[in-house]
Amino acid sequence: MNNQYKVHPALMMICLLMFMPCPATAKTLYQTHVEQAKISDKTLKKSLKQVKKHKVVNIIDDLSLPPFHKREKLQTTEKQPFCLTCHLPLPHRKNERNRTFMNMHSRYIACETCHFRPEATTMTYRWLAYDGADAGNALSPRRAFEVIVEASSPAERKHKAQFKKRVPLAPQPGARISPFYKNMPALLFKEAPFAQKIKMEWKDANENRRAEIKAKLHAPLKKEGPACKKCHDKREPILDLKMLGATPAQLHKIQNNTIVRFFSRFKKENERIRINKLLQ
Ligand code: HEC
Ligand code: HEC
Ligand code: HEC
Repeated sequence: MNNQYKVHPALMMICLLMFMPCPATAKTLYQTHVEQAKISDKTLKKSLKQVKKHKVVNIIDDLSLPPFHKREKLQTTEKQPFCLTCHLPLPHRKNERNRTFMNMHSRYIACETCHFRPEATTMTYRWLAYDGADAGNALSPRRAFEVIVEASSPAERKHKAQFKKRVPLAPQPGARISPFYKNMPALLFKEAPFAQKIKMEWKDANENRRAEIKAKLHAPLKKEGPACKKCHDKREPILDLKMLGATPAQLHKIQNNTIVRFFSRFKKENERIRINKLLQ
């Protein structure tokens, strides 16, 4: 499964000699969409407004006074999503109701899985390593037999279940469910040449140029991610959870998640999560 889109050195040589576009230098689907994006005046105007308001937030880690709600350090990965050139590692702030959940999901689902969903394009979703020897490559899903199933009495199982550590779906820490197109990740990492170029341009650009860059980068993106049920309901799933390594028990849990059910009951914007409602 691994290294499927790595190019054999000999093929690379032939490509270079013949001035052919090589698979290794092939653009990812996201980059292609950005380059082909046509921006309307209206979008550009809106983008300029956003860029003027855009603030760079620096997270200060070593405060002289320990903050009250000090969280443990965010785990970073060797490979970084291109989006983090400008967005924070926990990028969701606006929607108070779902931001915590969306930030949690960003640890095991690539930004692009939720935000880059071009119409009329079939992508597959696979685990992509952001760390370790396989960083940047597709990973095989965790095999079902690696998830230990203990034989014990039903009462003991029930008691233990409350304290048992949840086995994550991810085959290794830092891995994220990512979109693939023609066997290649459809997304960009920070160190990709195109991403580097954008980073430099952004740094030196004035507001008008930044508005153009912002508009182009976001033209292929969706403002919002898919609804919870698009991944958590078996009726219209966008992810093939079985192929991503979910055991029947995990599949059942993901498709019968209390919190997701609770979210689907929200009708009004200003409704808040309340424990008594959660238990309904
Ligand atoms: C070069 C800087 C830059 C990069 C790279 C970038 N963004 Fe943004 N993004 C912005 C700015 C500026 C805004 C405007 C709102 C703000 O100030 O945060 C924004 C807004 C957004 C929004 C809100 C909707 C909208 O279009 O205004 C989403 C969603 C978003 N970005 C997702 C992403 C994702 C996903 C990626 C990676 C594929 C990404 N961004 C990469 C700068 C960037
Ligand atoms: C599980 C799906 C999911 C993932 C993964 C995800 N997002 Fe989002 N994102 C959403 C949804 C849903 C919204 C819309 C929130 C709302 O307003 O209801 C959103 C909104 C945003 C916004 C708008 C501003 C805000 O404060 O909420 C930005 C910026 C953004 N996402 C960036 C990112 C970046 C960068 C990543 C990767 C690090 C990412 N997202 C990963 C689902 C996702
Ligand atoms: C792009 C697909 C996707 C979307 C959209 C999505 N989820 Fe999930 N969610 C997952 C996957 C996959 C898992 C399982 C991760 C695992 O088991 O390691 C999960 C796990 C969870 C969990 C369990 C986490 C845990 O630690 O036990 C909760 C709660 C959850 N999602 C809530 C939500 C809510 C609420 C929404 C909508 C606001 C949502 N999800 C949208 C894919 C998604």
